[in-house]
Amino acid sequence: MDMKLYGYSFLHCFLILLFIFFILILSGFFNSTSFSIFSRSNFQSSISVPAVQLQTLVSHSDQIHDVHSANSSYTSPVNQFRNSTAIRKISKLISREEELLEQGLARARASIRKAGTSSVIVSSIAGVNRSDVDRVVVYRNRAAFYRSYLEMERRFKVYVYSEGDLPIVHDGPCKDIYTIEGRFIQEMEHGARRFRTTDPRRAHVYFMPFSVTWMVKYLYKPLTYDLTPLRQFVSDYVRVVSTKYPFWNRTCGADHFMLACHDWGPHASRANPFLYNTSIRVLCNANTSEGFNPRKDVSLPEIHLYNGNFPPQLLSPPPANTSRPYLAFFAGGLHGPIRPLLVNQWKDRDSDLRVFEYLPKDLDYYSFMLQSKFCLCPSGHEVASPRIVEAIYAECVPVILSNYYVLPFSDVLRWDAFSVQVNVSEIPRLKEVLSSVPEDKYKNLKEGLRAVRRHFVLNQPAKRFDVFYMILHSIWLRRINLRLA
Ligand SMILES: *[C@@H]1O[C@H](CO)[C@@H](O)[C@H](O)[C@H]1NC(C)=O
Ligand SMILES: *[C@@H]1O[C@H](CO)[C@@H](O)[C@H](O)[C@H]1NC(C)=O
Ligand SMILES: *[C@@H]1O[C@H](CO)[C@@H](O)[C@H](O)[C@H]1NC(C)=O
Ligand SMILES: *[C@@H]1O[C@H](CO)[C@@H](O)[C@H](O)[C@H]1NC(C)=O
Ligand SMILES: *[C@@H]1O[C@H](CO)[C@@H](O)[C@H](O)[C@H]1NC(C)=O
Ligand SMILES: *[C@@H]1O[C@H](CO)[C@@H](O)[C@H](O)[C@H]1NC(C)=O
Ligand SMILES: *[C@@H]1O[C@H](CO)[C@@H](O)[C@H](O)[C@H]1NC(C)=O
Ligand SMILES: *[C@@H]1O[C@H](CO)[C@@H](O)[C@H](O)[C@H]1NC(C)=O
Repeated sequence: MDMKLYGYSFLHCFLILLFIFFILILSGFFNSTSFSIFSRSNFQSSISVPAVQLQTLVSHSDQIHDVHSANSSYTSPVNQFRNSTAIRKISKLISREEELLEQGLARARASIRKAGTSSVIVSSIAGVNRSDVDRVVVYRNRAAFYRSYLEMERRFKVYVYSEGDLPIVHDGPCKDIYTIEGRFIQEMEHGARRFRTTDPRRAHVYFMPFSVTWMVKYLYKPLTYDLTPLRQFVSDYVRVVSTKYPFWNRTCGADHFMLACHDWGPHASRANPFLYNTSIRVLCNANTSEGFNPRKDVSLPEIHLYNGNFPPQLLSPPPANTSRPYLAFFAGGLHGPIRPLLVNQWKDRDSDLRVFEYLPKDLDYYSFMLQSKFCLCPSGHEVASPRIVEAIYAECVPVILSNYYVLPFSDVLRWDAFSVQVNVSEIPRLKEVLSSVPEDKYKNLKEGLRAVRRHFVLNQPAKRFDVFYMILHSIWLRRINLRLA
């Protein structure tokens, strides 16, 4: 029965989009320079490091405003809903708050752009030696990132919906492979005070704190592969918050976000077409071939905590001069399409390339990571792998073997400064590819790993620049390109 309702509102949103698109074309909107403040050419004119990829999105509310100003006879669902006097009052309040919020965001954008284009500020903002900046180029644009991060700390406000009950909402797994789901929800609910607001009118984004992993645990019937109960839950959740509050309908969910590390996160988000197509989805399973859209969605790093703890062997970085006798290492099950290629090709083939299926009990997984120069990180059942973060900790250069994977924080970080991507078709030449990495390049990659490590650390409570704040920053980046006024 829901599909009828969604189909109806989807059609309307689509029509508004189309209509606005025409208006924008007629008014020459796409030529205006103010809109494309983050275009790459702006950055590249003054600095050589590529810009933070801040894409521009046309927000639904932009369109809604334009519909008003054009005195159109077309009535959008939002206008219909604003026609009722009670709602009209709320909307007036909302729009005044909206205006203030958007003014703040416009200032943030301007200051990020200024930082990103001025090479003088690169060293002064970052508070580092200019030569360090040139050497450790792990950031796409360090100054723009730093400024953006500070602006986020200063302004960003998240409203966490209180709807829904434990265990599926307001909680999530805090150990094992989907840890990040629960730890983020916990931090958002109980920590992160400066980013939370209890007044939804002051929020820049709205968080729906349900856990897909707990849905699988409590709602899914094992071995049925029937994901309907998950989708039903998510669909109900969106219906409740969009009926009870005016915020979802205001933007068709574009300023709302969900977060899931479970493989089925993307499937659960299909429950509502706007959640899937418009909202910010923060997902470990960031497979562009399955609808992940890096312009609006956020790739979430997968972090495996055994019984809630990170492997102690990896907690403090090994000395840089630790000898690493093996060229590369992998051990793991033959999940997905890529790992069989790797294991069939390299298992027991070469004493430099230590490739195992499951590691024999008497051998230690993390010692291998610490003794290898490169750690192979092939996709399994889904694109993400906890090996990537473990390799970063072990200062074992990650070798990304995957298709359609959008790497975490790649809107800010230059992954080629601290990892190696090898095309799956090159697996037979893996040894050749890795042994041909020059020694000084390898040194730089390791330095890069040291520089990015702090962004992948999971602290409780969260600390500045750690993984929690980097996730939040990715959400902030998606949001500041969405202009509601
Ligand atoms: C739109 O309509 C309002 C009142 O109906 C009028 O005051 C305003 O001038 C109109 N704007 C345009 C651009 O026609
Ligand atoms: C808005 O309300 C007025 C008066 O109540 C009504 O005449 C009008 O048709 C309504 N407009 C829409 C689009 O529902
Ligand atoms: C900056 O780095 C260079 C080269 O490493 C060094 O010679 C210089 O003293 C450093 N400057 C400061 C202010 O640390
Ligand atoms: C938002 O839209 C849906 C469907 O279009 C509607 O059922 C709901 O009542 C609206 N929300 C509010 C707060 O009016
Ligand atoms: C996303 O939007 C497209 C139309 O652009 C639609 O065909 C598709 O069904 C939507 N996806 C979902 C999961 O609703
Ligand atoms: C590594 O460096 C430390 C000092 O930085 C030194 O004490 C140690 O002997 C070195 N180890 C090797 C294997 O070179
Ligand atoms: C990514 O999506 C494509 C298309 O559905 C699929 O063929 C591929 O196996 C997925 N990748 C992984 C690692 O799951
Ligand atoms: C990987 O290799 C295949 C086959 O050689 C090629 O078609 C594809 O474009 C390559 N992908 C990338 C990202 O280079």
